[in-house]
Amino acid sequence: MAANLIDRLRELKGQASAIPKPADEKELNDLRVKYLGKKGIVSLLSQEMPSVTKELKPEAGKLLQEIRTGIETMLEDARLGIRRDIIRRDIEQEFFDITLPGAHPDFGTRHPIAAVMDEIVDIFVAMGFQVEEGPEAETDYYNFGGLNFPPEHPARDMQDTFHLSGIDMLLRTHTSPVQVRAMEKYGPPLSVIAPGKVYRCDADITHSPMFHQIEGFTIDRKITMGDLKGTLQTFIRRLYGPNTKIRLRPSFFPFVEPGAEMDVSCVICGGKGCRVCKHTGWLEIMGAGMIHPNVMKSSGIDPEQWSGFAFGMGIERIAMLKYGVDDIRLFFENDMRFLRQF
Ligand code: FA5
Repeated sequence: MAANLIDRLRELKGQASAIPKPADEKELNDLRVKYLGKKGIVSLLSQEMPSVTKELKPEAGKLLQEIRTGIETMLEDARLGIRRDIIRRDIEQEFFDITLPGAHPDFGTRHPIAAVMDEIVDIFVAMGFQVEEGPEAETDYYNFGGLNFPPEHPARDMQDTFHLSGIDMLLRTHTSPVQVRAMEKYGPPLSVIAPGKVYRCDADITHSPMFHQIEGFTIDRKITMGDLKGTLQTFIRRLYGPNTKIRLRPSFFPFVEPGAEMDVSCVICGGKGCRVCKHTGWLEIMGAGMIHPNVMKSSGIDPEQWSGFAFGMGIERIAMLKYGVDDIRLFFENDMRFLRQF
């Protein structure tokens, strides 16, 4: 019986070395069950070990161990081979043709208002102005009082104001509050350009409740209207081209004296007269003037020693003229068909 077991073990060892390699994971599993499973050939033979004589036991044990290790090693090699084949097949199937045209990601574009603001700020920075920003939620003092709007004065109604409920603040109606803030912060001499959002209770095809302004001002000794005109002329020629003309017309703002409105020769018809300039040849684009002595005094600057000019322009208006856009609301609808044109 025992000798017989040794013979069968030798025979199995011979067979085991000739087991054909499994082709896939199912065959691999079947072989594992057939030889090494609980009721597999190797397990059944090892159950006969107790009946082996003492002399033959070492040999039978050694043979059993060799058979088990041989089959385990073969199956592990086969398992690695099968995994490698699967990975290779996956990689081959995943292969992509790098010469195929790619999918185009939908790129955004620079918003025309942001682009025009940057262009204007750059022109003034090149002339020596420093950039300042102020808060959009302002106090009555910076938006009106410090700018020489007397309390209850009708001039306050020129700009329909959003008041913030529950707190004594408002949404700034213009960028002019930055004049007062910068004068307090730095003192003269000073040249500032202040871009930003402003808010007015106002809406139609040329007015938006939120829009953008750029404020600019210079304070130094003996600043005159001539400096204001020269600065604005240089700016406009850089923005709209060297043949663009400007003119100043008298106007009223409580924080400047004298005050003016500035027109440019129509950028659409070159001044000949068209629908956009209502056949006048001129377009109004900003308010300007000499800083009122009261504004200087309330910011602690002596108007006998210093003088200055200031101007403020609406960016949407300038962008509409630059790009021939006839409805201000188009800038804020975020329609990519519109925005992609810039
Ligand atoms: C002012 O806001 C003054 N702070 C400008 C100023 C600064 C004058 C410094 C003197 C010295 P005004 O209210 O005119 O002025 O507005 C200036 C520009 O903002 C207008 O010319 C117009 O282009 C633009 N604007 C006004 N209201 C709107 C609106 N609702 N939507 C779009 N643009 C507007």
